[in-house]
Amino acid sequence: LTVDGKSYSFPVLEGSEHEKAFDISALRDQTGYVTLDRGYKNTGATQSAITFLDGEEGILRYRGYSIEDLASKASFLEVAYLLIYGELPTANQYETFSNGIRRHTLVNEDMRKIFDGFPVSAHPMCVLASLVSAMSAFYPDSYEGNKNPDLHIVRLLAKLPTLATWSYKRALGHPINYPKNQLDYIPNFLHMMFALPVEDYKVDPVVAEALNVLLILHADHEQNCSTSTVRLVGSSQANLYSSISAGISALWGPLHGGANQEVIEMLEDIKADGGDVGKYIDMAKNAKTTGFRLFGFGHRVYKNFDPRAKIIKKAADDVLAKLGVNDPVLEIAKGLEEAALNDPYFVQRKLYPNVDFYSGIIYRALGIPTNMFTVMFAIGRLPGWIAQWKEMREQKEPIGRPRQIYTGATLREFVPL
Ligand code: MLT
Repeated sequence: LTVDGKSYSFPVLEGSEHEKAFDISALRDQTGYVTLDRGYKNTGATQSAITFLDGEEGILRYRGYSIEDLASKASFLEVAYLLIYGELPTANQYETFSNGIRRHTLVNEDMRKIFDGFPVSAHPMCVLASLVSAMSAFYPDSYEGNKNPDLHIVRLLAKLPTLATWSYKRALGHPINYPKNQLDYIPNFLHMMFALPVEDYKVDPVVAEALNVLLILHADHEQNCSTSTVRLVGSSQANLYSSISAGISALWGPLHGGANQEVIEMLEDIKADGGDVGKYIDMAKNAKTTGFRLFGFGHRVYKNFDPRAKIIKKAADDVLAKLGVNDPVLEIAKGLEEAALNDPYFVQRKLYPNVDFYSGIIYRALGIPTNMFTVMFAIGRLPGWIAQWKEMREQKEPIGRPRQIYTGATLREFVPL
């Protein structure tokens, strides 16, 4: 802080000793007195050229391209290339990139031994984080001098869906499906998830398109919890696999990637209670007394609407219509949405359904189990994490070291027992 030409270069927390020492209350409502504290360099805002987000206007762009355009016209791998390398690929670049991914979908059989050590009941997210971390051991050139970064990027993009489907198959007691590399990225994932080994699996184009949209919408969201984790871990020069594994762990938390799971669990609770949508809308309006929170509505960043939600809603409608799904939980979701959008309480507070509200509905309709929802988020977010990790390394950002403000005891004298 600079006050009347005098500089105070330390943070001031409300109620802290610093605040007591320097009366800053008079400055609270003034602006223009704040100067950069260099001590904040590792915890302050990150410069990034990847994703533009305006929470007031509800705008989301990857490398300058609107999310609406990309979701309706591009493939997930084109968007991955765009995020990671900064430009949309030419036809030749796309062929090299996507063929590279096709060639690397198989996972070393020794990784299966690690996988087999997990309890069958293990949550797929801890299995995924562990196996991605284990990839360092199989590709030591990723940490010995960070060699071949582009090859590791391709490897990870190729293998994550394979690893993701392992834990799903195992929980069912099914043998795993090896990738079929004549298939494109999303059909190959659906084949590994759902095909019986003897079946010639036909992927429904509406389903593949809905997943393409979902993955694109989740591909990056600037500095959220998992992304800044990837950057922070990578800032110590930790390799790609370790950094992404840390991001997967961060995403696993219910406040971040687990939100769509909470939506579905809430819908299940409403169903078990008789499915009275109006009752729960009233409870949400009286949250202070009822304690009921409507999951999947509103967003920490978006003050208006989550631009991803509009796009995903259409995908949800298309998928439900195409599959002719008749699931009471989905009917409750639609009922909640309709009631909220027509209720001045929600409209005035701009409490619209967000991306997490619809994504769970689509996954559920596709038969993807609830504990795989966050895994789907991780597959979608992978290109963003990679892009952020790569950018952070290329910008030669210093090692992260969040600043601490000490709030503990002052000097105490040790008295032996
Ligand atoms: C995301 O897509 O990462 C979530 O909306 C969380 C966030 O932006 O904080």
